[in-house]
Amino acid sequence: MENEDLITKLLSWYHVFKRDLPWRKTSDPYEIWLSEIILQQTRVAQGLPYFERFIEAYPKIEDLANAAQEDVLRHWQGLGYYSRARNLHACAQFIVQELRGNFPKTYKELLKLPGVGPYTAAAIASFAYNEKVPAIDGNVMRVLSRLFGIRSDVKVPKNQRTYFELGLSIMPADRAGVFNQAMMEFGALHCTPANPGCRECPVQSGCFAFEHNLQGELPVRSKAKKVKNRYFNYIVFFQDENLYLNARGPNDIWQGLYDFYLVETKEAGTPELIEKDPVVRHVMNKGGILESVSATRKHLLSHQRIQATFFVIELKEEHLSKTLFNAGLQEFSKEKVEKLPKPVLIDNFLKDLTVC
Ligand code: ADE
Repeated sequence: MENEDLITKLLSWYHVFKRDLPWRKTSDPYEIWLSEIILQQTRVAQGLPYFERFIEAYPKIEDLANAAQEDVLRHWQGLGYYSRARNLHACAQFIVQELRGNFPKTYKELLKLPGVGPYTAAAIASFAYNEKVPAIDGNVMRVLSRLFGIRSDVKVPKNQRTYFELGLSIMPADRAGVFNQAMMEFGALHCTPANPGCRECPVQSGCFAFEHNLQGELPVRSKAKKVKNRYFNYIVFFQDENLYLNARGPNDIWQGLYDFYLVETKEAGTPELIEKDPVVRHVMNKGGILESVSATRKHLLSHQRIQATFFVIELKEEHLSKTLFNAGLQEFSKEKVEKLPKPVLIDNFLKDLTVC
């Protein structure tokens, strides 16, 4: 198939089948950037309400830059990977403070922004400014691999270059933005990982995978790392209407979020096991009462399966606050706890908590 033929067919398909998405109706680089950062994290259906809430809370990049970090994390809550939200905030501040609010206008300059890698820089450069640079995400790699019979493992970072060069060689100079959107959408909706729509495919005739019946083998992807089980025992200390929480520190996936006192064990936690922890033991020796032990809740991260159990302990002595403070905990009223940014695991638990 001639390249021009491929472009025409993909673009015609896109105009008929594309989803109606708000970030496709704008050329504002701020909105495009925001949507791409959210969509790195989640699927379109889940990302859409987040995008809308962000745009409502922070219509301009200055609004995001001037927001409190806690507020930004609150809006991000539920998407996971909180370093992305902190980067998003830091990036907005960088653009407002260092670039006087002017979004960079080229792929090369966009790449210098925190949290912006080759894919995101290409998406912004092409969608907002029509720069001819291919946006290579997993969907696009799959389409390229199948169309051209490329066997480079899509999980190996250095192979991105192969896909980038190939993508660049086929994209039209005058319709860069819409071509990238079309490739991504075609991968997401039509040339899907399982059961691709080959029978009614507009580019079936030139497709290497279709011709050789290799749709199931392409793209080549090495096996994902094994998922590790971890057992988190959250100790929910409370007294009257107040709860004790801990702010997660630097170099932590949950930096800036609040959770409870954490005792990690090598196997599922029990009351006996958690009492081996010196802080828990001290509290129990001072009359602490174990009110309840929750059912185990599972939480999946990229390479970890966290099994969390919540041990709710009522404090009976005033002067325990010093021990807890030394263990990194702060006391908060229930109302304040509701407003704090928290991992979803913690937030869901709190929604069901009735003891205080
Ligand atoms: N996933 C990532 N970016 C996207 C976009 N701009 N449109 C649809 N899905 C996407």
